[in-house]
Amino acid sequence: MDPAAEEARHLGLRFQRGFLAGRRLSAFPWAELEKKLKSSSDALLLLDILQKHESIATEPLDELYDVLADILNKEESTTCYKSYLLPTGDSVTLSETVAIISQGTTGLVTWDAALYLAEWAIENSAIFSNRTILELGSGIGLTGIAICKTCNPKAYVFSDYHHCVLEQLRENIHLNGFVLESETGNHTKMQSQNQRTEVMDLQGPKITAAELDWDSVTKEQLSQLQVDVVIAADVVYDPQITSSLISVLQQLSASKTAGKPPEIYIAFTVRNPDTYHLFQTELGKVGIGWQVVPTHTKNLFLYDLHSNITLLKLLAKTL
Ligand SMILES: C[S@@+](CC[C@H](N)C(=O)[O-])C[C@H]1O[C@@H](n2cnc3c(N)ncnc32)[C@H](O)[C@@H]1O
Repeated sequence: MDPAAEEARHLGLRFQRGFLAGRRLSAFPWAELEKKLKSSSDALLLLDILQKHESIATEPLDELYDVLADILNKEESTTCYKSYLLPTGDSVTLSETVAIISQGTTGLVTWDAALYLAEWAIENSAIFSNRTILELGSGIGLTGIAICKTCNPKAYVFSDYHHCVLEQLRENIHLNGFVLESETGNHTKMQSQNQRTEVMDLQGPKITAAELDWDSVTKEQLSQLQVDVVIAADVVYDPQITSSLISVLQQLSASKTAGKPPEIYIAFTVRNPDTYHLFQTELGKVGIGWQVVPTHTKNLFLYDLHSNITLLKLLAKTL
């Protein structure tokens, strides 16, 4: 394929991803489309984009319009389903809330840092392959489900403390064809919401969704998990929760699995430099160093590429 056609295909794909992930129209790459159309001699690109958003080529039946009108007349739903396409051709489908804060939590939507961390993980899958992963403040599960689908972890422990978030997270884990360790042995995979099938796939990760509150979790509980890698996305946003997060990170960096402390990666959007500096200062106080992890090369998901997202690898100074 010539470079121009390849570029056009990529742009079309970005529109498709944005559409499936329910992004706001303003977040679509309109400027690039305009530029491309101006320099393009035919309208094939536009046609491609339109076709990706129209699942039917013929006029829809009147009955479909009736059903749509019924749905629109019903009370406006506060949740929606979004799909995030993975490079494998598979996707992560999540039930998310429409509002960024609902039920008193920020955990019911997918934040940009979660998408960034998932992209980085997919490109660095060796870090996760055949290892036990703990995710702090998982929210509704984008990063973890993407890792379970693409990085072949041995076990994945999602965690959060908010009961509505945990409920939605468990629903999303099911929605993506996984079952939780607590529900059955890990040899069972769910094919659809109500249909369970025994499968021979013994490689699938053991998945847990744990209630884990940074304020009350103990050192013993953390070390029992025997994790190799710890990750978290967008958990550095509120100075008030920083000290409890730091204490969990301190306990985790002092724990050992097969004689080694876990690798810890934290991704976050720097919204307020003061909050970021407070996090760094508090890490320093408990003897944890950090290094900025170089950004990955492939942008897979649509999010604000200009937002200031940082990924830190934490380094226990005692090592
Ligand atoms: C901004 S959301 C990020 C969610 C998800 N990681 C993402 O990036 O889309 C912050 C998450 O941290 C969780 N959280 C906040 N304080 C917590 C605590 N003390 N213990 C455990 N989780 C906490 C919230 O419930 C929420 O799910």
